[in-house]
Amino acid sequence: MTDKLRLGVNIDHVATVRNARGGDNPDPLRAALLAQEAGADGITAHLREDRRHIRDADMAALKEKLSIPLNFEMAATAEMRDLALRTTPHAVCLVPEKREERTTEGGLDVARQAHELADYIAPLRDAGCRISLFVTPDRDQVEAAHRIGAPVIELHAGAYADAWAEGRWADRDVEQGRLVDMAAYGHSLGLEIHVGHGLTYDSVGPIAALPHVRELNIGHFLIGESIFLGLDGAIRKMRAAMDAARP
Ligand code: PXP
Repeated sequence: MTDKLRLGVNIDHVATVRNARGGDNPDPLRAALLAQEAGADGITAHLREDRRHIRDADMAALKEKLSIPLNFEMAATAEMRDLALRTTPHAVCLVPEKREERTTEGGLDVARQAHELADYIAPLRDAGCRISLFVTPDRDQVEAAHRIGAPVIELHAGAYADAWAEGRWADRDVEQGRLVDMAAYGHSLGLEIHVGHGLTYDSVGPIAALPHVRELNIGHFLIGESIFLGLDGAIRKMRAAMDAARP
């Protein structure tokens, strides 16, 4: 029997809608509490350097009010580490960040910054935060994450999700193969494997079916679907799609 697959709901884009008008509505904390009720196993929020969606006060409120784990997504900067050390979330997921990008485009280059990242994560680990590194499904990156002592990697599913969305089936198969191989390789090194970025009801199945994958983090599609089904309905439908695919 494969371990239960956890669903982390990313609520960034509730804040995107709020910020489009200023003011307080819709409230990302309310969305997070509703996601918790709907069966989310964790909440992910990305505090970007430019604060385009989640803000410092959102992160503090999430930490205070949630009873499920909070995954604090952030760039590896001194400012973010100070904030994470003050917030002490369950997990910190390090991602690369470019100011001009629309979303997190690539994975962290762990192989090239191994020494710096090892030093960077040490105080976070000492503070009890579980460290996850967001990497492309690439052998060098997975191996480097293991080498610097991260317990978790999150494999970037963006190329897979884009191929699905654009109906490029041969590319989709190649990208799926990379995720399959790197989930197995990471697991063989003792890493806990998460996957995220761009997943939908259609594309989630083959990833949810991978026995070594322990958690999926899904945001934009779920928040969009909540316009039609409500957040509760969208999360329950995703949960059902994940469960149907799980061996
Ligand atoms: N995981 C990570 C590390 C991410 O950076 C993101 C996007 O912020 C997600 C998961 C969620 O991706 P999406 O919003 O496309 O579902």
